[in-house]
Amino acid sequence: MFTLAHITDPHLAPLPSPRLSELMCKRFVGYLSWHYRRKSIHQPRVLAAVIADIAAHAPEHIALTGDLANLSLAAEFTRARTWLEEVGPPARITVVPGNHDAYVDIPWEEGLGYWADYMTGDMRVPGSAQGPALPFGFPFVRQRRNVALIGLSSAVPAGWGRASGRLGTRQIEALATILSGLRQRGFCRVVLIHHPPLPGLAKPRKALEDASALKDVLQREGAELVLHGHNHCHMRNILESRHGPVPVIGAPSASAIARGHKSAAAWYLYRIRRQAGVWRIDVSVRGWDARAGQMVDDSGFRLNGPEMGDAADKDKVPDIGA
Ligand SMILES: [Fe+2]
Ligand SMILES: [Fe+2]
Repeated sequence: MFTLAHITDPHLAPLPSPRLSELMCKRFVGYLSWHYRRKSIHQPRVLAAVIADIAAHAPEHIALTGDLANLSLAAEFTRARTWLEEVGPPARITVVPGNHDAYVDIPWEEGLGYWADYMTGDMRVPGSAQGPALPFGFPFVRQRRNVALIGLSSAVPAGWGRASGRLGTRQIEALATILSGLRQRGFCRVVLIHHPPLPGLAKPRKALEDASALKDVLQREGAELVLHGHNHCHMRNILESRHGPVPVIGAPSASAIARGHKSAAAWYLYRIRRQAGVWRIDVSVRGWDARAGQMVDDSGFRLNGPEMGDAADKDKVPDIGA
């Protein structure tokens, strides 16, 4: 049994005061959006409750699928580094970046480079990246017993009013090689990506641009689990592949209060085991209950079983604010 927690989109608050030179163009609009809307949604006390709840359950590993930052300010990357170290060491947390971590084009060493050891592979397989620097640091692969965590980066700076993502041909081709090799070696393959990975799961201006190509690879090579964020809500889909169903699961923002049809913060706990030659994955969901002021059991289901089918397509195409 391997236990894996999944959280996403913490959108760490409070937002550091930006330098005037940092408030140009897209960041200025994002700054207004943060102060007039988003800062009331993403609350440090909620995130603290999520992290404490995860710690109480003591999973062996934590997957964090991006959007730690908000405007990709220099101070956000250093603060996020400090926060990551409080949550756990790089060996216990695997991070992939989100669009808010590449809000504008900034050098690797001034931005994502601060989190490099949380985004570096330790398993050499054909197709995997070995260096920490973009654009060649993804996909990376980490081995935790018989589970392989495959980290993708869909984080690219997008234009005004856009929150789209892109993997690019090189990453998608490398992923195909990795999935094929790991399948032949019998690993449980868990793919981590920020944007919803299939066509139609996000509005066009917020979607993964090459979702169709990624879907083709997942259908051809299979995967035991794909985890994502970005839409800030519960999402459960199944993609049929040549090698069996591929569960594709998204979680709400780890710091959000409930608003409208959007869910409050939650985290997922995956219990992964191999039984009679088949991977079995049980899932528990823990969510923020604002009335009780604490984390509570939300729901649970089993992948590769009928329960997953009942829950599929929940919140499939939400009105996202990613
Ligand atoms: Fe996002
Ligand atoms: Fe987000």
